[in-house]
Amino acid sequence: MLAIIGGSGLTQLANLAIERREVVRTPYGEPSGPLTFGRICGQPAVFIARHGYGHTIPPHEVNYRANVWALAHAGATCIVSIASVGGIRADLGPGTIAIPDQIIDYTWGRKNTFQEGMDSPVVHIDFTQPYDAELRRILLDAARDAGQAVVDGAVYAATQGPRLESAAEIDRLERDGADIVGMTGMPEAALAREKGLPYAAITLVANHAAGRGDSAYGIHFANLEDILKESMERVRRIIEMICLKK
Ligand code: HPA
Repeated sequence: MLAIIGGSGLTQLANLAIERREVVRTPYGEPSGPLTFGRICGQPAVFIARHGYGHTIPPHEVNYRANVWALAHAGATCIVSIASVGGIRADLGPGTIAIPDQIIDYTWGRKNTFQEGMDSPVVHIDFTQPYDAELRRILLDAARDAGQAVVDGAVYAATQGPRLESAAEIDRLERDGADIVGMTGMPEAALAREKGLPYAAITLVANHAAGRGDSAYGIHFANLEDILKESMERVRRIIEMICLKK
C-alpha cells in the first residue's frame, strides 16, 4: 500500500477517495494526526498530513518517528513524501518540481532513530543513496507519462527551521553542493530506511532561497499559495499516474 506524507499546502489529497480515518498509537507518541485510508484510482493508499490537518505542527516539532512507525504499522509498503522547498540552484525557481536524489542533514535535536536503549543491537543503516532508487524511477516515469516536467535529481539540504535561512547560510549550503532547501526531509528519510520502507520525495519549489532571485533582499511568500496550488495539481496527476500504472 502506497503511503503519502503531505507537506505544506497538502493537508488532504483531492484524489483520495476516503474510506476511513484511524488514530494510531505508537511507542513513540502521537503521529501528526489520524491516518486517512482510501483509494486513488482504485489502488489502496494511506495519507498523513505532516504538519497536522490544520497545519499547526512546525517542522522541528513533527513527530517523525510516530508518523513513520504508524504508516509502517498500517501496512504501508513505500512512502512518497511531498514537501515544499526553497530553490538554491538558479534553474530551480518557484513552480519547479524536483525529485531529489541526495540529502545533507543540518537538523539537530530531533529524535532521528528508532534505536533506543540497550536491548537491541546497534544497527548502522546504509544511507549512501538516501532515496530509494526504484521508487524514484517510478515517480519519474509517472511524471513523464502524466506529461509533467520534473527535475531528475537534486541535493536536498534539511535545515532545522522554523526560521528561514540567512543569505550567507544559503551560500554555505550551495558550497556544500545543495540545490534545494527544506525543513522536513530529515530524519523522515532515515527513519523510513530504518523501517525498511522505500522512501522518495516530490519537492515543490515554493520560493527562491534567501539571497537568490527575487529573494535577494528577503523572502516574500505573497504568491506562495498560488504557486503551491498549481504545483499540487501537478503532483496530484503524478500520483494518479503511479496508481494507474500499478
Ligand atoms: N527554506 C527552508 N525551507 C523551505 C523554504 C526555504 O526557503 N521554502 C519552503 N520550505
